[in-house]
Amino acid sequence: GLVGIFDLVVFGGTGDLARRKILPALFKRFCAGQMPKPSRLIGAARTDMDTEAYRAFVRIAIKEFVDIPDGDDAALEAFLAQLEYVVLDARGDTGWATLQGMMAPDRVRAFYFSVGPGLFEDLACKLHQWNLTEDDSRIVVEKPFGRDLETAQELNAILAAHFHESQIYRIDHYLGKETVQNLMAVRFGNMLFEPLWNSQYIDHIQITVAETVGVAGRDVYYERAGAMRDMVQNHLMQLLCLIAMEPPAKFEPDAVRDEKLKVIRALDPVEPHHIVRGQYTSADGVASYREDVGNDRSKTESFMALKCHLSNWRWAGTPFYLRTGKRMEVRNSKITVVFKDAPHSIFGPEAGRHNNELTIVLQPNEGITLDVTIKEPGQGGMRLMDVPLDMSFAEALGEGSHAPDAYERLIMDVIRGNQTLFMRNDEVEAAWAWTDPLIRGWESRGDVPKPYDSFTTGPDGAAQLLRRDGREWRGLLS
Ligand code: BG6
Repeated sequence: GLVGIFDLVVFGGTGDLARRKILPALFKRFCAGQMPKPSRLIGAARTDMDTEAYRAFVRIAIKEFVDIPDGDDAALEAFLAQLEYVVLDARGDTGWATLQGMMAPDRVRAFYFSVGPGLFEDLACKLHQWNLTEDDSRIVVEKPFGRDLETAQELNAILAAHFHESQIYRIDHYLGKETVQNLMAVRFGNMLFEPLWNSQYIDHIQITVAETVGVAGRDVYYERAGAMRDMVQNHLMQLLCLIAMEPPAKFEPDAVRDEKLKVIRALDPVEPHHIVRGQYTSADGVASYREDVGNDRSKTESFMALKCHLSNWRWAGTPFYLRTGKRMEVRNSKITVVFKDAPHSIFGPEAGRHNNELTIVLQPNEGITLDVTIKEPGQGGMRLMDVPLDMSFAEALGEGSHAPDAYERLIMDVIRGNQTLFMRNDEVEAAWAWTDPLIRGWESRGDVPKPYDSFTTGPDGAAQLLRRDGREWRGLLS
């Protein structure tokens, strides 16, 4: 869509998130014609440098993180010309008058808090004190949005003291992923699935987000967070919401977010024996979790599997199994919807029983597979087998169907003023309200995560969690 003129101020403009995600994403949108002149990105940080030095810094970052076709630097130089820099101290007075002087009228203004939550309050107060925000200026914040309900409420209160909820964009980058939005397109754009989308026809649903990376380099943050806070409370929760929610009347911010909120609020507390936590040990020459974080008594989980229930009309009786982990055998995120068996087999017991399964692969090979039961070819009796109706998005949509990175989508949604893919205050708080008692439970029991070999599917308990119910995880490798 068309984008107007904007100024995007990035606090923490020299930080890791800016370098890896925000600047490359904006550059790609620039190349797509979505940063019309005289729009600007204004980097703000404490590092003492001028605009020229900042452009040099960004040039290096873009070359590192973006594949520029044929080394064509003209676009990059044109992009850099729309960048400025201000030395700024969130806690002191340095730079604020300069920033104020740089502001231009009649443009969309967005302020990206690409800093730790410890600075939110200072930044919010300073923006207010220096009159930098207008009624429709936007504030963008990143996770971690709190580490429990109380801290999330504090952050929400800090932001609410200075801005309307309609100005606040809380990023969960999973919502910016093309395939995650496709969950909604598949569910609500087809007649085929929705009539069956309930506990009467669906046996259970699996959500897996497996990564091969460890936590080296982010050890301080991760050791305090663990998989529950880092992945389940936000990313997996969002996937669960999109899979389980009622159809919103419109694809509009509050219509969608109201429905997601209802899902979170319908989640039952999780029984302790439905929680499996794991910690990776060394293998294939990589360090163990405890070595990575430098704490040989760490009780933080790098893997987590859960069985959850939604107490509502649609889902009563259908379990949702969630799992996520670092140092798993492959990088693979997918959702599998396992339908029930046909109520009666007309072919008799020899034919075998088969059921339908819908698999939505979020990454790395985005696509959808539907397992359909057919006759096993041959002369014998009627025997059944499963074959996949298999659609890879890359093949179906053709080469060059470049899916924008999550940050490209989300940054442009901020500029357009569309909050649909951002989390609302009550949603974040509801998610913590569900998460907190689980964490408190295992802390008070003194539970220690079970060790698992790196590059496997996690601790045995995760497999048992399903086996006890007569079910199996769908493979990571397939
Ligand atoms: C981040 C987590 O939010 O998401 C990381 O903090 C995790 O631990 C990352 O690796 C996964 O994102 P993606 O887009 O690579 O699946």
